[in-house]
Amino acid sequence: MADSVDPGAVPQFTLSSGSKIPCIGMGTFGSDKYAPPEVSAAVAGAIRFGYRLFDCASVYGNEDLIGQVFEEAFKAGTVKREELFINSKVWNDMHGRGDVLLSLAQTLKDLRLDYVDAYFVHWPFPNYHAPGCDGETRNPGSVPFSPDAFMTVWTQMERICDMGLAKHLGMSNMTIPKLEAVLPRCRIKPALIEMEQHPCFQQQELFDYCVKAGITVIGYSPIGSPNRPGRDKSPGDYADTEEPEIAAIAEAHGIHPALVCLKWAVQRGSIPIPFSVHEKNYQSNLRSVLSDPLTEAEMAAVKKAERNCRLVKGQVFLWPGAKGWEDLWDMDGKITPGPR
Ligand SMILES: NC(=O)c1ccc[n+]([C@@H]2O[C@H](COP(=O)([O-])OP(=O)(O)OC[C@H]3O[C@@H](n4cnc5c(N)ncnc54)[C@H](OP(=O)(O)O)[C@@H]3O)[C@@H](O)[C@H]2O)c1
Repeated sequence: MADSVDPGAVPQFTLSSGSKIPCIGMGTFGSDKYAPPEVSAAVAGAIRFGYRLFDCASVYGNEDLIGQVFEEAFKAGTVKREELFINSKVWNDMHGRGDVLLSLAQTLKDLRLDYVDAYFVHWPFPNYHAPGCDGETRNPGSVPFSPDAFMTVWTQMERICDMGLAKHLGMSNMTIPKLEAVLPRCRIKPALIEMEQHPCFQQQELFDYCVKAGITVIGYSPIGSPNRPGRDKSPGDYADTEEPEIAAIAEAHGIHPALVCLKWAVQRGSIPIPFSVHEKNYQSNLRSVLSDPLTEAEMAAVKKAERNCRLVKGQVFLWPGAKGWEDLWDMDGKITPGPR
């Protein structure tokens, strides 16, 4: 492809296992807006362009079509399986005994793979919402986080790792108190943690905790998810790309503010997984990490764009009796208990 990126030129991070992972990947959540064929077409274009890391999940509802793209790319010789790093995640309604293996089996069938490079627990509780639901949706069966229930899931994750069906394990949407409760009980520690991370929501403490624990961080919604579903939009949310600190740096570099967010993420030491079905956008996202880095002063300026603005608040996962979305995130440093 003309002007494609040499994947060998994309910097890589080293996981605790010693395996390498590209410093940037492509997200595949269509945000209830982009249909599976649009997303899978973007994955096909992204492979041709030089992307080697893809962040999938069963709940995104598009693994089957993305799997066709992977299969065609392997058959055509565009890329070899071992050159891709493919994530997937077990959805919240598959936390029961035996469910993780079933969920991964379906994902492997859909993605047409023998293994995933990393398999994540998407959310640390079994609280389910239907795809496309609105922000007021609540499931009466939802429960607060329980370390024991989480370990039931994690033990199954460890087994699929033992079986070679997942090369690495990951957690997502965790907090420090939750990690403190479960990490000492993990036979196989997570190599990766996915967390919301963008200039207006940097999660510095959690990021530092992961780095210290030897866990590589993948930052989701790295551009501030401007097209996120309505359930994740709240009055008072900041738009990262419009914040003065980001806009000024973008102007100085003559680039879109989205690319400032991505450069900052990678230079900080985390892996952004921006989503776009638009060729111009996903191509410039990958290219952005190859040259024209932010200066130290610009990195310091982005640090000041912190607004403590969590976008994916997760209120649809609240259990009966919970006070508000803050209960999901252990804001006072302790795991929020359920109603007594
Ligand atoms: N673990 C979890 O719970 C979790 C939660 C959320 C997301 N994720 C993962 O993280 C991925 C990314 O998150 P996200 O989709 O929420 O947010 P995001 O990547 O921050 O934002 C995506 C939006 O940014 C726009 N964009 C992308 N590149 C751009 C560019 N170069 N210039 C201008 N606009 C650009 C796109 O608009 P256009 O569509 O107009 O191009 C796209 O709709 C997801 O796809 C998913 O894989 C994981």
